[in-house]
Amino acid sequence: MVKIKNFANAIGTLLCLLIGKASALTLTVGDKDSVCDAATLIINGIMDYYEGIRYGGTVGIFQAPYYWWEAGEIWAGMIDTWYFCQNDTYEDIIFDALQAQKGSGNSFMPQNQTLTEGNDDQSFWGFAALSAAERNFTNPSSDEPGWLALAQGVYNTMWSRWDTSYCEGGLRWQIFTWNSGYDYKNTISNACLFAIAARLARYTKNDTYAETATTVYDWLKDVGYFKLDGDSYSVYDGASITGNCSSVNTAQWTYNQAIVLGGAAYMANYTGNNTWVTEVGRHISGMSVFLNNNILYERQCASSNTCNNDQRSFKSITSQYLGATARLVPDYSDQVMEIIDASAKGAAESCSGGSDGHTCGTSWTSGSYDGNYGLGEQICALEVIQNTLVMQYDGPFDNSTGSSEGNSAEGLGYESSTNPHEITVTTRDKAAAGIITTIVLAIVVALGIWMII
Ligand SMILES: *[C@@H]1O[C@H](CO)[C@@H](O)[C@H](O)[C@H]1NC(C)=O
Ligand SMILES: *[C@@H]1O[C@H](CO)[C@@H](O)[C@H](O)[C@H]1NC(C)=O
Ligand SMILES: *[C@@H]1O[C@H](CO)[C@@H](O)[C@H](O)[C@H]1NC(C)=O
Ligand SMILES: *[C@@H]1O[C@H](CO)[C@@H](O)[C@H](O)[C@H]1NC(C)=O
Ligand SMILES: *[C@@H]1O[C@H](CO)[C@@H](O)[C@H](O)[C@H]1NC(C)=O
Ligand SMILES: *[C@@H]1O[C@H](CO)[C@@H](O)[C@H](O)[C@H]1NC(C)=O
Ligand SMILES: *[C@@H]1O[C@H](CO)[C@@H](O)[C@H](O)[C@H]1NC(C)=O
Ligand SMILES: *[C@@H]1O[C@H](CO)[C@@H](O)[C@H](O)[C@H]1NC(C)=O
Repeated sequence: MVKIKNFANAIGTLLCLLIGKASALTLTVGDKDSVCDAATLIINGIMDYYEGIRYGGTVGIFQAPYYWWEAGEIWAGMIDTWYFCQNDTYEDIIFDALQAQKGSGNSFMPQNQTLTEGNDDQSFWGFAALSAAERNFTNPSSDEPGWLALAQGVYNTMWSRWDTSYCEGGLRWQIFTWNSGYDYKNTISNACLFAIAARLARYTKNDTYAETATTVYDWLKDVGYFKLDGDSYSVYDGASITGNCSSVNTAQWTYNQAIVLGGAAYMANYTGNNTWVTEVGRHISGMSVFLNNNILYERQCASSNTCNNDQRSFKSITSQYLGATARLVPDYSDQVMEIIDASAKGAAESCSGGSDGHTCGTSWTSGSYDGNYGLGEQICALEVIQNTLVMQYDGPFDNSTGSSEGNSAEGLGYESSTNPHEITVTTRDKAAAGIITTIVLAIVVALGIWMII
């Protein structure tokens, strides 16, 4: 059987090469059958990178060089596919992945990841747990923590790290002191905490989360990570605690702005307060720096074709939060859907490469495949394409419509009392983690300087 299948694949590949774009994605945006057919092809490409169903592979994670955090982004995207396409083919795989990586503290801090896990990394798995709750994804058995509880575990561990000793607040990038970047307070970690708190507020109707969301949002503004210019916010990358967060790195990434936008959309929907609707509008205006003919692009690195593996996935979470914004804030639905639809068309055109004929590229603005490929390209295309359906479905479930079990005390005290990681980290591991993070930091800083010049 295997041999026959391989042979069939080989013939298929040959045919694709001979007849060119025959198997490229064809997409009618907003058409469920068309979107779900495209999703099937794109997810086939995603699963090529998945370790968890291979002999000796670890459940929940993707092969190197993709970091642990990116898996959280993938599972959140595939939960949306499960929901939009009502297709349970990958239900068990998604379920097992989240269970395998939730960690002994039920807050997505597995022991294996202490050399790479920062607040932002943890958040992306928190987002996956929130998506599971908000999509009414199949629940764990009643003796296990529910998806909501796991998201609360992420929230509680993150909020306990809120640090007023520098810059009058904010989360540091890193959780663990031995990872470089510990002295950097970045927008992404804080934007993620803001969005998690806002989503928990809306789901649980517990105002404590809304208060936290407001605190984090106000801090981001006060410290100068957002700059209001007319009716539009620019969102910057972050700053070092050395200098009290005063030297802001002004690099602009799609996901920083989109996650803040999405969090504000959840707050607007939850509170019904027009102040939040105004903030939503200012962040939508700010997104214009990432649009070319209304199509998303990663301005910081795309034109020079220097986006790294992480950066090549950012348009994915960006698309997901744009979809949430369209669904949650009626005043802006049409404007945001135009961005999603234009970007989805561009993404589908980019998905015409590789031996299968539908491998997705990085650029959505070129009208064709640009030669790049990877897990990031696949998940970005999946998210933007499936979000063309978002207005046809109800908004996210909450605790009056959904079924996820919560526990507002999940994860509390976990780090201080039961963090077992420090003792097991050897000096050599620390050095390796330091080098990787230093390289990443150097690139971030270099890009920042380049932008200023
Ligand atoms: C469900 O998804 C699987 C895998 O992506 C695909 O093969 C199948 O055709 C889908 N089913 C339907 C009804 O679309
Ligand atoms: C931790 O890493 C080991 C070795 O790679 C692997 O076998 C194990 O499954 C991992 N555990 C988790 C929870 O990822
Ligand atoms: C949500 O999930 C619960 C538990 O699986 C189920 O009983 C309920 O019907 C689901 N709600 C909807 C609207 O699908
Ligand atoms: C640190 O920055 C905050 C604004 O974020 C400012 O209010 C405070 O005075 C600064 N502290 C020092 C010691 O510079
Ligand atoms: C709306 O939100 C703003 C900012 O958080 C707050 O100052 C104001 O009191 C709120 N208005 C209402 C009616 O809750
Ligand atoms: C909140 O979102 C729902 C859709 O999920 C929408 O129907 C409703 O109008 C929104 N409410 C507010 C206050 O924006
Ligand atoms: C939803 O959360 C509120 C506030 O925590 C609580 O009072 C209510 O009982 C919850 N509803 C359901 C259906 O769980
Ligand atoms: C609301 O959330 C806070 C923060 O996690 C928690 O301390 C409190 O018990 C929650 N309240 C309810 C009614 O669940």
